[in-house]
Amino acid sequence: MGCEQSKSFTLPASGGAAVAPAAAAAPQSPRPASADDNNKNNNSPPPPPPLEAPVKLETKDEPEVKIMAVNSGTSARNLKDLPSSPSQSQKANAAAESGDPAFSDNFEVVACKIDEMQVGEMRHVAVPGAKQQVLLGKGFDGDYFAMGTACSHYSALLKNGVLGDSRIRCPWHGACFNTKTGDIEEFPCNDGVHVFEVQTKGDELIIRGEAKNVDNQKRTFPMCKRSSDSPDTVVIIGGGAAGLICAETLRKENFAGKVILLASEDYAPYDRPKLSKALDSDGTKIVLRKEDFLKEHDIDLRKSSKVESIDFDKKTVSIIGATNETIDYTHLVIAVGQRVRQLAESVTGGKWNNIHYLRTLDDAKALHEAANGKRIAILGSSFIGMEVAAYFVGKATSITVISRTRVPYQAAFGPEVGEAIKTELFDKKGVTFIPDVSIEAYTGVNEVLQSVRLSDGTTVEFDVLLAGIGTVPNTDFLHNTSLSLHPTTKALIVDEYMATNIPYVYGAGDCVEFPLASHDNVRCTIGHWNIAHSQGRTAALSVVGKRKPIQSVPYFWTTIFTKSIRFAGFGEGVSDTFIHGSLNGLKFVAYYLREGRVVGAASLMYDPVVSRFAELLAKGAVITKEAVMEDPELTKTAEKVFAVPH
Ligand SMILES: Cc1cc2nc3c(=O)[nH]c(=O)nc-3n(C[C@H](O)[C@H](O)[C@H](O)COP(=O)(O)OP(=O)(O)OC[C@H]3O[C@@H](n4cnc5c(N)ncnc54)[C@H](O)[C@@H]3O)c2cc1C
Ligand code: FES
Repeated sequence: MGCEQSKSFTLPASGGAAVAPAAAAAPQSPRPASADDNNKNNNSPPPPPPLEAPVKLETKDEPEVKIMAVNSGTSARNLKDLPSSPSQSQKANAAAESGDPAFSDNFEVVACKIDEMQVGEMRHVAVPGAKQQVLLGKGFDGDYFAMGTACSHYSALLKNGVLGDSRIRCPWHGACFNTKTGDIEEFPCNDGVHVFEVQTKGDELIIRGEAKNVDNQKRTFPMCKRSSDSPDTVVIIGGGAAGLICAETLRKENFAGKVILLASEDYAPYDRPKLSKALDSDGTKIVLRKEDFLKEHDIDLRKSSKVESIDFDKKTVSIIGATNETIDYTHLVIAVGQRVRQLAESVTGGKWNNIHYLRTLDDAKALHEAANGKRIAILGSSFIGMEVAAYFVGKATSITVISRTRVPYQAAFGPEVGEAIKTELFDKKGVTFIPDVSIEAYTGVNEVLQSVRLSDGTTVEFDVLLAGIGTVPNTDFLHNTSLSLHPTTKALIVDEYMATNIPYVYGAGDCVEFPLASHDNVRCTIGHWNIAHSQGRTAALSVVGKRKPIQSVPYFWTTIFTKSIRFAGFGEGVSDTFIHGSLNGLKFVAYYLREGRVVGAASLMYDPVVSRFAELLAKGAVITKEAVMEDPELTKTAEKVFAVPH
């Protein structure tokens, strides 16, 4: 790997200049430049040559793609080895068809006539011999692009996503990939996608590339390895999404010092959102990266290693767990996430062994084993509670949700959406929902809770109680230190670069409070998978002196009965809602407004509207109630915002 030879460099101080001199001396990254790189290198694929024929902007249904040739085989060749003139191309095709290994492993395919592609259009192109297709598009800048068809997160088709400025936002959970480089611009995902070369020949568009990259859709970025020349050590506390992305970004950015990832759980970083959607997830199958991968990239994962204290003067952290030791750091990233709020024994009247919580893989396994085939009661009607209720349909003998609000998701999606989801999904699946109540008394024997009495006089009997009543930052070990924490929530206070008030110390993920750029820099804590990833990357970029303020738009999803509700934005202080579509038909988009401006959007079966909304917010568009009433799917709004005159 090219960057294995990278020289070590001294890390810039926290809060330093946008590009610290020391970082400027860092070796160039071998990966293609991303649109969000501060220090762009020259490795981007060359732009496609100018059009040879004028482009007609006319609407057409997606035509059948004409396949002219494929070159596939076994021995590797470079793209430069491909023939460039039509006559050579024809020879190549003939050679490929006859099995000539000279053209093996590369493909060249005629996608369509140039004038068939319109600005903003995306279509699939088949590559004979490959199982997958290639996504061909024409960006708003007039450039053509070709890339893998599937999002590297959960494989949604990018063609169904939203084309923005040289990037596509995935329709499912909002990840964004640069159309020219395939780099990740927004998360959630760990890998990029492959890009292919698009050329014009005569009146046709040709796509070329390495055949193996068509089927192997994920593109793992080159990462450097540790060099003993580097004196620096970045210690990351917390082995969740934020910690992992931080570690990987350091290596992608050629940080050659030690990277130590301290994880209190006994697992490699895993896909936490899967837990409540599939409680019986196999831990080995939901890891985000295998431990071998981390070893290969010199990311020193230390499982079962909980940090107990930090000495900010000596720059050390002390851990207990697999090893009890004190570790020196030059830079520290605190990414400890949140933990579930627990029912106090003083409230429940004792220690009950059948009260469960859900945050970790071990919690999920324990809950699945305890409630399978039994009666489960769920305290709390937000995402975790309702996902667990949906999961146990067909598995538990009874499911009762105890809610202090009238409908589920009331705070997050509002009463109308909550009512529709309850009536059309949970009621029909036999989940009992008890609204507007709190628990007044707990009854049980031998440390087993048997029933609760509610404020409306109802008694609910069960075998297992899941309490999904919120989360708190895992910052207890920071409480009496000089780190600035929020006075009430105790979240770690960071700026837009994830820097704390202490030099060389950063925070990322669910445990921080930060300024949300897409919403007037309101300071908030966001417990979303995509934001944890973005913050992990932002912290790493700050560590290596490529500071870039976090700009990500919050985006999350919840999945029940195989249906996903998506949400983008930030819904605090909402005073009005505009709903388009059919709530009871479970096909709608809901816009949430504050002072006449849309601050959030939720949808069910209406992709990719939420991604379009997120992309517009990311671009800085202000969307009013009038705009969504006139253009409820935001297609015209997006055309106006993204289209550039040619
Ligand atoms: C069941 C469940 C379902 C979810 N579903 C969704 C969803 O569908 N969509 C969505 O957007 N978001 C979802 N989320 C939220 C999402 O998982 C979080 O936003 C994300 O995990 C935050 O990542 P993080 O790295 O900040 O923290 P975490 O993932 O919590 O990781 C932090 C890690 O640090 C460890 N740690 C804590 N203290 C210490 C210490 N002192 N020393 C060492 N290690 C420590 C913790 O044990 C943990 O392993 C879900 C969360 C849960 C629990
Ligand atoms: S499948 Fe694309 S972001 Fe999840």
